[in-house]
Amino acid sequence: MTTTTANGLAASAAEHSCCIINPIDPGAIILNATKLTITAAALMPYLLVTPAAWSTNWEALPEQPPIPADNPPNAAKIELGKTLYFDPRFSEHGTLSCNSCHNLMAAGDDNRPNSIGMHDARGERSAPTVWNAAFQSVQFWDGRAATLEEQAKGPVVNPIEMGMESLDEAMGRLMKIEGYLAMFQAAYPGEENPVNADNAAKAVAAFERTLITPNSPYDRYVNGDETALTEQQVRGMETFSDLGCTACHSGANFSGPALPMGTGFFQKFPVYTGSDYETKYDLVADTGRHQATGNEADKHLWRVPTLRNIALTAPYFHHGAVPTLDEAVRVMAKTQLNKELSDQQAADLVAFLNGLSGEFPRLVMPRLPSTPNMSVIPPVDPHLNLNPHN
Ligand code: HEC
Ligand code: HEC
Repeated sequence: MTTTTANGLAASAAEHSCCIINPIDPGAIILNATKLTITAAALMPYLLVTPAAWSTNWEALPEQPPIPADNPPNAAKIELGKTLYFDPRFSEHGTLSCNSCHNLMAAGDDNRPNSIGMHDARGERSAPTVWNAAFQSVQFWDGRAATLEEQAKGPVVNPIEMGMESLDEAMGRLMKIEGYLAMFQAAYPGEENPVNADNAAKAVAAFERTLITPNSPYDRYVNGDETALTEQQVRGMETFSDLGCTACHSGANFSGPALPMGTGFFQKFPVYTGSDYETKYDLVADTGRHQATGNEADKHLWRVPTLRNIALTAPYFHHGAVPTLDEAVRVMAKTQLNKELSDQQAADLVAFLNGLSGEFPRLVMPRLPSTPNMSVIPPVDPHLNLNPHN
């Protein structure tokens, strides 16, 4: 199996080595499909030698993201997933839904450095957008969830997110909301006991696979409309490729090669250590993938994130510490490619990245099944106990 990707990176099933430079086409890096992590160290020699030689195959966003065989979508399942996504009753105090931190009326995030969960808790990481998350081969900044299905169960029971004690508790609440039974039955026809956490997660994931934003100016340009990008944006596109941003942000989603679901494309950040940015924005406090695996070798490895709609999802990076896109591209050029950008280059790159904002499909708000004459949310407000003056 060999897949050649936008910038000439090739993924191959070659057994013997993890990453070697292809002698025939120096632009191609051969990866071992069983261990598809290209380490920065392996990329660097090439980047240092011939950065201008990247020939980029620019790709438009496909109409369909990959769909796992065990979760075929149907209209009822997608509607159920949407309903669950917007329903705050599966958070401890009934105040947070998925949409609270991944706002679908906007760019699918919360535009905050880090989100505010139950009990005002803050996590260390910034909420990524859910728009086009279906095109990422692994989920989370550190890639610790293999699929959207696996990811969807996490937030409900995460104490700093929706704060439920257990998935059983969440499902207990759900079962008290009568209208959900018929929705699960319609989504999973023929299943004897369709109301369970796995099916809830599958429905949310099926809904998330509909959250894609095609037809950005960039996509229209790649599909042949030469007027879709401005002159400056085209210059930025060339700069993006010439500098070597495409070494990592390749493919239709700008998040690396299209790998099988569950296979992450991880890179070191920062590759060039010791820059002023590192201290200014505390780029190394969080050890990234290492936090998930405990492996020394995974220190400061991060999944390469998408750049689609990037202009709309400030602040930037895993901890949301960098406030503007102009600053974010300067940080990347310095830490990943050891380049100082001129003001012109930075402005061109930002203009190009603005061209990656897509068309957001119009969503119709779901009607949440109601519980006539009662509420499933316990009538406790822990803040009253915390603050005796209230
Ligand atoms: C309190 C805020 C909050 C809530 C509520 C929340 N999330 Fe998240 N979500 C986050 C944060 C923060 C991350 C990143 C965590 C990390 O990478 O370590 C994240 C990551 C994700 C990702 C991974 C995206 C990517 O590109 O890696 C998906 C998908 C997602 N959440 C979906 C959901 C769904 C579905 C729900 C509801 C069941 C939900 N989230 C509820 C804050 C939240
Ligand atoms: C060696 C791989 C590599 C190269 C080269 C690279 N990036 Fe990145 N990029 C990453 C990784 C990994 C992250 C995630 C870092 C984090 O937040 O932990 C990232 C994050 C970003 C972000 C912030 C994403 C977000 O959601 O906050 C932007 C913007 C970005 N890169 C743009 C660029 C530009 C522009 C270039 C070229 C100047 C570039 N990158 C070169 C690997 C790379």
